[in-house]
Amino acid sequence: MMIQPLSEDLRNKISAGEVVERPASVVKECVENSLDAGATDITVIIKKGGHHLIQVSDNGAGMSQEDLGASVLRYHTSKIESIDDLFSIDTLGFRGEALASIASVAEMKIVSSNMNHQGAEIIVKNGIASSVAPAPEIGGTEITIRNLFSNTPARKKFLKTPRTEMRKVVDVIRRFGLAYPEVAFKIISDEKEILSVLPESLEERIDALFDPTYSDNLRPVNFSKGDFVFTGFVGNLNLVRSRPSEQFLFLNRRFIKDRLLNSAVYSAYEALVKRGEYPFFVINLIIPADQVDVNVHPMKTEVRFQDEWRVYHVLKSGVKDALQDLLDTLPSFDKPFDSFFQRPSSYDGDPGQSSIQFSGAPMSQNEKEYQTLQRAKSYASQLAEGRENSPTTIPTENIWQIHHKYILSEISSGLVMIDQHVAHERVLFEEALIAFESTSMASQTLLFPEQLDFSPDEFDALLDVLPYLEKIGFKVKKQGDSSIRVEAIPSEMGWGMEKSVIRDIIDHFLNNRKEYSSFQEGLAASFACKAAIKAGDSLTKEEMQELVNRLFATNHPYYCPHGRPIIVQMSLEELDKRFERH
Ligand SMILES: Nc1ncnc2c1ncn2[C@@H]1O[C@H](COP(=O)(O)OP(=O)(O)O)[C@@H](O)[C@H]1O
Ligand SMILES: [Mg+2]
Repeated sequence: MMIQPLSEDLRNKISAGEVVERPASVVKECVENSLDAGATDITVIIKKGGHHLIQVSDNGAGMSQEDLGASVLRYHTSKIESIDDLFSIDTLGFRGEALASIASVAEMKIVSSNMNHQGAEIIVKNGIASSVAPAPEIGGTEITIRNLFSNTPARKKFLKTPRTEMRKVVDVIRRFGLAYPEVAFKIISDEKEILSVLPESLEERIDALFDPTYSDNLRPVNFSKGDFVFTGFVGNLNLVRSRPSEQFLFLNRRFIKDRLLNSAVYSAYEALVKRGEYPFFVINLIIPADQVDVNVHPMKTEVRFQDEWRVYHVLKSGVKDALQDLLDTLPSFDKPFDSFFQRPSSYDGDPGQSSIQFSGAPMSQNEKEYQTLQRAKSYASQLAEGRENSPTTIPTENIWQIHHKYILSEISSGLVMIDQHVAHERVLFEEALIAFESTSMASQTLLFPEQLDFSPDEFDALLDVLPYLEKIGFKVKKQGDSSIRVEAIPSEMGWGMEKSVIRDIIDHFLNNRKEYSSFQEGLAASFACKAAIKAGDSLTKEEMQELVNRLFATNHPYYCPHGRPIIVQMSLEELDKRFERH
């Protein structure tokens, strides 16, 4: 074949692959344009998750007839003129390719009117633009996209269900909503309004986009260092989730994905959050435009910093300041496994030989925690294997609680120590699994039913997990389009936990992680973990006895669903050795 130039249409289709992945990316590009045009009111309408129709309308500056014709041509932009401008970008767009790309993979119609009070419209079909025609004045711009990817079936195949695509559109608008709280946003999906926010403060916006309890759990981030200014909010421990989905980092109000900087925020929480737990944050990094490069990828969510480590350190210390009182006042519950990791080395009297010494180079906190968890798992399975010669029941006359955290009991061969939280977790886990298969778990009716509000996408997931919630003892009524009334809760669960338990279950559902062998196991585990008694809860003797008996009625009393040990034993032999009673 001879080398030939690609046609304009084909060039557009190829670059469309980089910009237009799915309805949500179309929405993102259009809303960026609206914001760049100074809009303060933006409405997104989608049908069938955007498969059929996407419409974005704004009250921004609009376009002249002439600009309207140019706007759909590739590499045509009003935002930069020279190479120098590329290093001082203060608009969200600048590559001049989004509209051309979208038009190449869908049917597009733009109506726009600017200061001159005269409207104009253009239609692009099969990559061919009509001439610009007069249209009514609309005080901004309205862009309508139909039949996305209908001329590129290979791409269409990658689209998910309308519901999933709708969720992704909501995600996109939520990000803009957090970066631009002074702008009103609305989403209408299949004729239903699923999100609507008015101009407000960032704190109010967070409540509006998540739920009204968020603002009670936020700490402001507000600091500057040299030419950096970082502002926003970080959540306290009530907003820690088990799904990484509520971490929002903006660079000069552009949503960015940056693992290093996310980890700067996580590490500021120190031991307050564990692996697999994700705190909430919304932080806008204001950094002079000439110190960043946003032109790394057509989607513009990846960026490069002149000095990323400086940003890292400034961010980390800023978040730490915001969390200082939390870090100071919370009991230190780090290194939960230390107690038994020291065990082998003290028995052997030879710490150097111990298999559990941290070896070699210093490790990051995350690596340490990971190793710790791995060791815990292998220790737990050793314990489980050696089950034959261990007690299957524990006489419970002599039983004590220490530090409101561990249960201590004498057994014939020595003593056992039980972690009350993981013990209860194991019990609830197995009971929930049984309940899914047969009769529901017991409920306690709430004297004052509680209303819980959810975001549209969460509510959607909630409907899917409702049958399971009922099995474990929740009694729930749907109320409106995004709320439920909780009338009863599992009888073993503490009051006031309902929201976080339900949340966690939804997270698990949306997350779809493969760490459990079945979906039900994952649900049961997240329920058990949240609903179980905590370290710090005091127990009566009867409660301890009951817990221990139920623990030994489970299939796996020795380790919890996450692999942490429940029981640590110490034989008389070991005790004697420690006291040098040879
Ligand atoms: N909603 C809008 N309001 C006003 N002008 C718009 C709007 N959408 C697009 N434009 C104009 O069309 C041009 C091309 O848009 P686009 O293809 O997204 O490229 P870019 O945003 O990178 O410049 C923009 O530079 C802008 O002048
Ligand atoms: Mg653009």
